[in-house]
Amino acid sequence: MKRTHSCGSLTSQMLGQQVVLTGWVAAVRDHGGLLFIDLRDEQVMAQLVFNPEGDAALHARAREVRPEYVVGVEGQVKRRPAGTENPRLTTGGIEIGVARLEIINISSPLPFELDAAASVSEEVRLAYRFVDLKRAPMQRTLRFRHRLTLEARNWLASQGFVEIETPVLTRSTPEGARDFLVPSRLVPGTFYALPQSPQQFKQVLMVSGFEKYFQIARCFRDEDLRSDRQPEHTQIDLEMSFVDEDEVIRVVEGLVSRLYQSLLGIKLEIPFPRLKHAESLARFGTDKPDMRFGMELADVSVLVRETELKIFRAVMDQGGVVLALATEGKPRLSREDLNRLTEWVKEQGGQGLAWLKAGAGDEGSPISKFFPEGLVKRLAGRLKAAPGETLFFIADKPHKARMLADMLRRHLASRLDLIPSKNSFVWITEFPLFEWSEDEGRWVSMHHPFTAPLEADAARVENDAGSVYARAYDLVLNGTEVAGGSIRIHRRDLQEKVFKVLGIGEVQARAQFSFLLNALEYGAPPHGGIAVGLDRLIMLMLNLTTIRDTIAFPKTQKGTCLVSGAPATVSDRQLKELNIKILQRDDGRRTTDEERDE
Ligand code: AMO
Repeated sequence: MKRTHSCGSLTSQMLGQQVVLTGWVAAVRDHGGLLFIDLRDEQVMAQLVFNPEGDAALHARAREVRPEYVVGVEGQVKRRPAGTENPRLTTGGIEIGVARLEIINISSPLPFELDAAASVSEEVRLAYRFVDLKRAPMQRTLRFRHRLTLEARNWLASQGFVEIETPVLTRSTPEGARDFLVPSRLVPGTFYALPQSPQQFKQVLMVSGFEKYFQIARCFRDEDLRSDRQPEHTQIDLEMSFVDEDEVIRVVEGLVSRLYQSLLGIKLEIPFPRLKHAESLARFGTDKPDMRFGMELADVSVLVRETELKIFRAVMDQGGVVLALATEGKPRLSREDLNRLTEWVKEQGGQGLAWLKAGAGDEGSPISKFFPEGLVKRLAGRLKAAPGETLFFIADKPHKARMLADMLRRHLASRLDLIPSKNSFVWITEFPLFEWSEDEGRWVSMHHPFTAPLEADAARVENDAGSVYARAYDLVLNGTEVAGGSIRIHRRDLQEKVFKVLGIGEVQARAQFSFLLNALEYGAPPHGGIAVGLDRLIMLMLNLTTIRDTIAFPKTQKGTCLVSGAPATVSDRQLKELNIKILQRDDGRRTTDEERDE
């Protein structure tokens, strides 16, 4: 049967017309005689009616039909009887009186009902992704993703950007995660690395004279997975020549506001606010601040030094800090709430949570007796706390205290329903160029080793690395990093100094980054760029809780693909061709090769 119409093209102007439709059976309703089938194609439903007084064989065949059968029907467009219309459907005023039915294919019973997916585990949804993707929300998301990608491409092209693909089989790239490796058959013992990003290639393209590059690029990182991290993700990757931070930032603001406007009809206010990294840490404890709400942190170490409280003193004597926050006059918390919060902080790795009530009796606060009234007043004033409101204190080493205070701030805001529904974008700028790695006992790049220092700081790179700030910028939306980039180093002498600080010698640099370093010697213009995390942006635009829901076939938390079964073992012959020997399989079994060797 060849379809003459799609369900979506049916209108009540077509009454009496003969049509042929094809699609999937969404539901069958047997009203003891009258039989209704909801037919679905590309997400639009049409109601089919089978009248028992008509063709008996046709009616009997219709009763065999089950959900997800693929069928073709021929029939007449009719008005639905008064009172049975469904105003929620575009086809809700009409139905098809079927004269001919062809069962094109049958379907096994579904592992779960499509509109009951919320009660199904994600594992089942991922294992039967082909069924899960039939669901309207998944259809909407993937179609949204398609439109967004198309819009991004078209807009960037309209701004003079050229899309250029870069290799997927390549060498290690310096984004800081572990590489996925692919063994080479032709050169035994060597490996390709899948790119963590197109970073080095896009910089090379600047040398080649493509002044505005972009790519919707797949990036691969072997790192621990979270709800906003996948081992392969997609970036809208950009690089531009002869630009400074402001120009790159302006392009991203143009792109993002265009995407919101055309896909969601939301007008974003640009330019987005900017916050220096140090200020972001001080006010929010993190470089990914959720700016939809206040509850800013205050470092009250100096203030609480006046108290006799031993725990605070002990922490501060060991170089720690005391950070405080309050809920800015919002709901009061019960003793039970506070006990639960304290337990929650401990579960997050904190030592505990100290609290007291602002100017309204201690209500059982274990620490209030150490806080004279004047001090409580000053603290409450600093935290904009109303009388009776709880003040919270986290005492720990600076890094950990900030991390816990940031988590507490977001946890409290979400539990107390203090987060307004809006899109709060903020640029975080002037990151430190280096950070000290306790594990490695050396400086490491905060972004990547090609990031340029601020011009005013460049002279201190070698002698005072810790004081050097970077020409780097991240875009944060509602507490999630959605883009990151920087102006790059384009001069060899500066690049060498940075490598020296990082403890990367000439030989290692040549081995690791040879092609970029070479290219930089052939007329490298000043350049910079950025990459927008496409999956994350879509997750946030659609208010989803995980990026897995924005990807057709995502990996599980363990990095497995439940549809294909990857990663999987391969045959001994394949391994042999690659000169690879497996020492032990995941299940502890030794390989047949080894057994054979013995
Ligand atoms: P960066 O590493 O900051 O920069 O990545 C850019 C953006 O990509 C997204 N992202 C991820 N999304 C999902 N899963 C992941 N595992 C993942 N990792 C990153 C984030 C992030 O902001 N080459 C540089 C860009 C540049 O300097 O131009 C880079 O890759 O939204």
